[in-house]
Amino acid sequence: MLWIMRFSGFFSAAMVMVILSPSLHSFPPAEAIRSDSHRRLSISAHSFDNFYFRKAPVFRNANECRLSELEKSSVCDPSLVHVAITLDVEYLRGSIAAVHSILQHSKCPESVFFHFLVPDMGLESLVRSTFPELKFRVYYFDPERERNLISSSVRLALEQPLNYARNYLADLLETCVTRVIYLDSDLVVVDDISKLWSTSLGGKTIGAPEYCHANFTKYFTEHFWSDSRLSGVFAGRNPCYFNTGVMVMDLAKWRRYGYTRRIERWMEIQKTSISRIYELGSLPPFLLVFAGHVAPIEHRWNQHGLGGDNVWGSCRDLHPGPVSLLHWSGSGKPWLRLDSKRPCPLDSLWAPFDLFAHSA
Ligand SMILES: *[C@@H]1O[C@H](CO)[C@@H](O)[C@H](O)[C@H]1NC(C)=O
Repeated sequence: MLWIMRFSGFFSAAMVMVILSPSLHSFPPAEAIRSDSHRRLSISAHSFDNFYFRKAPVFRNANECRLSELEKSSVCDPSLVHVAITLDVEYLRGSIAAVHSILQHSKCPESVFFHFLVPDMGLESLVRSTFPELKFRVYYFDPERERNLISSSVRLALEQPLNYARNYLADLLETCVTRVIYLDSDLVVVDDISKLWSTSLGGKTIGAPEYCHANFTKYFTEHFWSDSRLSGVFAGRNPCYFNTGVMVMDLAKWRRYGYTRRIERWMEIQKTSISRIYELGSLPPFLLVFAGHVAPIEHRWNQHGLGGDNVWGSCRDLHPGPVSLLHWSGSGKPWLRLDSKRPCPLDSLWAPFDLFAHSA
C-alpha cells in the first residue's frame, strides 16, 4: 500500500483531481515501487488548469550555432538535436525541469527539438505556455488507441503504458528523424546535450552507460535461466546492465532491423510463458534485446540512483567521476522530498530547474 501513501502526498502537493484507472489496482508490488515507473492516471483535460508553471526564460542560440535557413521550422532540419521525453501528470514537474535544464546548458538551445509522448493531449498547451518558443511536437501515446502500432497481445499486458513508449519512438517520430536521445522524466542535464548527441554509437543501434559490475542474473527469474531456449539468447554475448532512462538511439537502424517487434516478442513470451521470465516491467525486454550490444556511453551521462532504493527518504551520494546528468531513479523524487521539507542533500541540485508554482 506504499503507493497509496505516495499518491496521497502527490495529491496534496499538486492539488489536482485524478481518477485512478482500474489497471492501477492490479500492479504487482514490485511494479509499484519500480524506479522508473510512470503510474497510469486518467485525468480530464480541464484538470491541467490546476497545474501552474512559471514561464521559463527564452534561451537563444550563440552566434556560432547554425540552423539551415530553408528548414528553420522543420523537424527534418539535419542540424537539430532531437530529445524524446514522456509527459504525464505524476512526473510533469520532473519533465518540465528536465527541459529547462537542457535549454539552460545548451550553447544552441534553439537547435534542440523536443518530442513529448503524452497520455493526454491537454498537456500540449501547458508546454507551450511554459516554454513559449520551444521547438516541440506532442505525440499521443495510449496503447488502447495506438492499435496499429502495438501488437494486441502486448497491448493487453501493458501496466504502465508510458513506461513502454520509448519502444515505439521509431514508429512515432518522423522518418527524417534518424537519431534521438531518450530521457526519463526524473533527471536534469547539467552539460551541453549536444555532446551526448554527437557521441559515436560505433555501428550499434543504441548507446547508454553500461554497468558491468552489476549482478545481471537478478534481472531474470530462475525459470528463465533454467530454460536454455530462453537464456540461450545471451550466448556469445557479454551482457551488462544498462539503465534505459538515458539512451541515444539510432532510429534508422532501429527501423531497419525491427527492434520494436523484437522487444514486443519478449513481452509476449513473458505473458504466455508458464512462469514469469522477469519481474520488472519495461527494462528486461530491453536487456534481452540489447545487453551486450550497447555502445558504451560515459557514465557522466547517467549519474543514476539519486532517488534512493525503495526506502522512502533514503539518500544517495554521487558516483565518483564527472557529472553531466543527474538522475533521481529509485523510489524517491526530489520534488516530493522538497515539498515534504525533508530533502536529500543532492535534491538542492534539482531545485533550480523547478518551474512549478506552488501558489496556483
Ligand atoms: C547474483 O544474483 C543471483 C540471483 O539473485 C545470486 O544467486 C548470485 O549469487 C549473485 N551473484 C553474485 C556474484 O553476487
